[in-house]
Order: sequence, then structure tokens, then C-alpha cells
Amino acid sequence: MERHYAVMGDPIQHSLSPWMHNAGYEALGLDAEYQRFRVEASHLAEAVKGLRALGFSGWNVTLPHKENIVSLLDTLTPQAQRAGAVNTVKIHEGQLIGHNTDGDGFVRSVEEELHGFEGKKAVLLGAGGASKGIALALAEQGMCLHILNRTPEKAKGLAQAIEREGGTASTGEFAPGDWLKDVDLLVQTTSVGLHRESFPFSLEGISKQALVVDIIFNPMETAFLKEAKKLGCRTHNGLEMLLYQGALAWEFWLGGQAPVKEMRQALKNQLFKGMFNKG
Ligand SMILES: NC(=O)c1ccc[n+]([C@@H]2O[C@H](COP(=O)([O-])OP(=O)(O)OC[C@H]3O[C@@H](n4cnc5c(N)ncnc54)[C@H](OP(=O)(O)O)[C@@H]3O)[C@@H](O)[C@H]2O)c1
Repeated sequence: MERHYAVMGDPIQHSLSPWMHNAGYEALGLDAEYQRFRVEASHLAEAVKGLRALGFSGWNVTLPHKENIVSLLDTLTPQAQRAGAVNTVKIHEGQLIGHNTDGDGFVRSVEEELHGFEGKKAVLLGAGGASKGIALALAEQGMCLHILNRTPEKAKGLAQAIEREGGTASTGEFAPGDWLKDVDLLVQTTSVGLHRESFPFSLEGISKQALVVDIIFNPMETAFLKEAKKLGCRTHNGLEMLLYQGALAWEFWLGGQAPVKEMRQALKNQLFKGMFNKG
């Protein structure tokens, strides 16, 4: 029996998820299909009803629906409860279950290079939606967090949320500082760099031991990542986070292990194609 999955959001035309998931189904010979749907905010409830009526087994949720969909679901997993947001829905025995794989996807994307999380220092630049999921998941792994955001109140709010969950978090000025010397993991979660603009401050003096991640993947190397690489740090972009949030959604729906090698290749192929299409 063919299974149906999808991603809903607005805008959605640039989503790479269909390529990633369909390549995974093909690799394992599964009778399944993944589509994308543009759903305006005012039509979210109707879209949820519609996908259920059409027999979809599950779907991903992206901006602007991640928080608004919560009240339309029957239950939430602990990850979705903690984040207060849902990026994956599964229909199980008629129940709509909301889950969130963003934070754990990020954790999986860095675990091989970080060699353990407990007691290590993570600095997060930015305190928006993506930062929240990542911060909560890293704190759960036992990392000590330092959060810097252009609007300091948002960093403070996020640090308080982490402490309420039993984690350790501090905040500081959105600027270079002593934190550069002993950071183990630096995560750039702001939208600066999406349009190839330079980062507001330099990373001069950063520990060469640091793993530096920019969660932007298009462009594949932001000015921020280029500088970190030049300063001798290991770097990677946001493609791995996208891959592993998708792999964890797959595993939530289908069980077993997602074919990450094929899914990663499909993401890269599609990104390269997009670059050529831009001309
Ligand atoms: N790899 C992935 O799978 C993945 C997943 C989700 C998101 N992302 C990327 O993550 C980025 C953030 O997404 P989001 O959903 O968290 O967005 P968001 O909720 O709108 O948050 C935006 C963040 O960027 C900061 N910011 C924006 N412009 C800035 C500037 N000129 N200088 C300094 N800080 C600035 C904001 O600071 P203020 O609070 O001061 O406004 C805020 O911290 C986007 O680039 C998105 O593409 C990647």
C-alpha cells in the first residue's frame, strides 16, 4: 500500500525535503511518496483535516505553522512539548501525534565531531526559533550554554527557559569576548549570511579546537564560516542539521534507520541544481 507524506509551510517552493525523503524511499524500495504543500496560515486547520481525510501517514511542518499547529493535535512527544513547536506529525491509530526533530537533528549532526557533550561549552549566536530547539537539545546533552543575541531580552528569555528545564545557560553581549578562547562548539543561528552579507563581528582569537557550525546551508559557505575556517577551526554548514531532522522524522514515521547517505546526496544534488538554475 502506498504511503503518503508531505511538508506544509508558506513559502514552500524552496523546500528540499521532497528530494531528500523520496530519494530515501527509492533507496529502500518503499512504496511511498513525499510532496510539498503551500498552506497559508489562515488555512492551517483545514489543511490538517484534509491531509487526514486523504489518508496521509504523516507530514512535516515548517514556517509559519510550527507553533500554531500544536493546538490542532491530539498529543505531543516530550521533544515537541519542550520546544513548544512541532515539525513532524504522525497519524497513529487515528491520533495526531506532534513531534519535534529539529534539536535532536542538530545534536546528531555534530556528535561525531564533538566526541561527547557533557560539560563542554557551546556558544549560540542568535535566539530565534531555530536557536531555541538547538539550545534546549544541547542543554539536555549536558552542554553549558552561552547565548548572544542582537536583542538581549530574547537571549535572556531563552537562557531562563533552559534553566527551567534543568540546564545551564548564561547570556552576554552580541560581540566578541573571552568566550572565543574556550568555546567547544560555536553555532551561528541568525539569518545573517543568507544574502551573502558579512557577519557583524570577527572571530579573531577563537580556539582552534572549536567546531563551528552555521545552520545556513544556502549559500553553502557563509562569510562567517569562511572566517572560522581561515582561523583554523573545523566547520560545517546547516545541511547536516536539515538531513538529520529529516532522518529522525523518517524514523519516527517508519521505524528502522533512514538511509542518510542517499538522503544527503539528494540534498546536495538539488542544491547544486538550484545554483545552476540561478545562472
Ligand atoms: N539548517 C536547517 O535545517 C535550518 C533550520 C531552521 C532554520 N535555519 C536557518 O536559521 C536561520 C534563523 O532561522 P529562525 O527560524 O531562527 O529565524 P528567526 O526566528 O526569525 O530568528 C532570527 C535570528 O536572527 C537574528 N538576526 C536577524 N538579523 C540580524 C542582524 N542583522 N544582526 C544580528 N542578528 C540578526 C535575530 O536577532 P533579533 O532577535 O535581535 O531579531 C534572531 O536571533 C535562518 O537563516 C534559517 O534559514 C536552518
